[in-house]
Amino acid sequence: MTKKTVKPRKKGLKGRDFLSVDDFSPAEIRSVLVLARDMKAHPRKYRAALEGAMMALIFEKPSLRTRTTFTVGIKQLGGDALLLTPADINLGKRESVYDVAKNLERMVDGIMIRTFGHDICTSLAAHAAIPVINGLTDLEHPCQAMADFMTIIECRKNLAKAKIAYVGDGNNVAHSLLLMAGKLGATLFVGTPEKYKPDQNVMDRAVALARENGGTIVWTSSPVEAVHNADVVYTDTWASMGQEAEAEQRREEFNSYQVNRGLFSHAHGDALFMHCLPAHRGWEVTDEIMDSKNSVVFQEAENRLHAQKAIMVGLLKG
Ligand code: CP
Ligand code: NVA
Repeated sequence: MTKKTVKPRKKGLKGRDFLSVDDFSPAEIRSVLVLARDMKAHPRKYRAALEGAMMALIFEKPSLRTRTTFTVGIKQLGGDALLLTPADINLGKRESVYDVAKNLERMVDGIMIRTFGHDICTSLAAHAAIPVINGLTDLEHPCQAMADFMTIIECRKNLAKAKIAYVGDGNNVAHSLLLMAGKLGATLFVGTPEKYKPDQNVMDRAVALARENGGTIVWTSSPVEAVHNADVVYTDTWASMGQEAEAEQRREEFNSYQVNRGLFSHAHGDALFMHCLPAHRGWEVTDEIMDSKNSVVFQEAENRLHAQKAIMVGLLKG
C-alpha cells in the first residue's frame, strides 16, 4: 500500500512544485520573470546559487531543448543533473511512481519529469518531499509558457497592449499559454478546429483568471480571426509526441491553420512569430515564416535556459 503524502501549501516558492502554470500566483510568475531576466543579463552573479544541488531529469519522451536547458542551467548555477530515461527506471513498470518518489527524495534535491499522463507528474510530486517540475505532460508545458512570456515581454515590453494569437492544435503548449495569459492579464486568441479545441476545464480556468487579472481569452475556429491584427503569432506541431500515428490525418484537418505568408499577413507587419519547437517545416509553419525577420523562435528556445534557472532557484532555494 502506498501512503498519500500530499505536500502542505507553503508560502514562497521554496519547496513547492511547478506542475502547472496555475501553481504560481501572478506575483510569483512576475518574480520568476524578473529573476530570469537578471540571470540572462548577469549569469556570473548566480554561479553558486545552487552549489552542490542535484536535479534528477526523468524523460519518458524525447527532448532537445528541455534536456539541454535543464542540464546546462543547473550546472551554470553550481549544481549538477542526472538523466533518467525509460531504459534506466521504466517508471511505473519496473517500479511504482510512489517508490521512485520515495527513493529520489533521499538522493537528489529536485526532480524534473517529462511524461505522458499529467497524473504521473502529480502523483510523483504528491509523494516526493522535494520540488517536482513539469517538463511537459500531455496536459501542460509550464516551463515553455514561462520562457514564451519572457520572450514576448523582452520583444514587446507592453504585454497588456499585445494581442497574442495561437493557431493549430489545442494541446499542452496551448493550455499553458492560456493559463499564463490569464495569470498575466494578457490578450490571447486561440484558433483551432472545433475537434481540437483546448481542454474545456483549462479554457474555463483561463477565462476566469483573465477576468480577475484584466485579460481577454477568446477561442475561435477561424485562424484568420485569431491572427487578425495580432502582435504575436504562435503555433506548435499538429501531432504531439504520442500522436504520431494520427499525423497524416491531422495534416489534412489542420491544413488551413498553417502559418504561412497568407495567414501571417493578417497580423501586424512587425508581429513576432513564435514556436516552442521542434517545428515541422512545411506542416504547421513554412520556411519563409520560420526564417523571417519576425521569427524569434531561437531567442524563445534560449529563454528556456534563463526561465528554468529562475524556476529552479525559486523552488530549491527560495
Ligand atoms: N520545446 C521543447 O520542449 O523542446 P524539446 O521537446 O526539444 O525539449
Ligand atoms: N505539443 C508538443 C510540444 C513539444 C515540445 C508535444 O507535446 O509533442
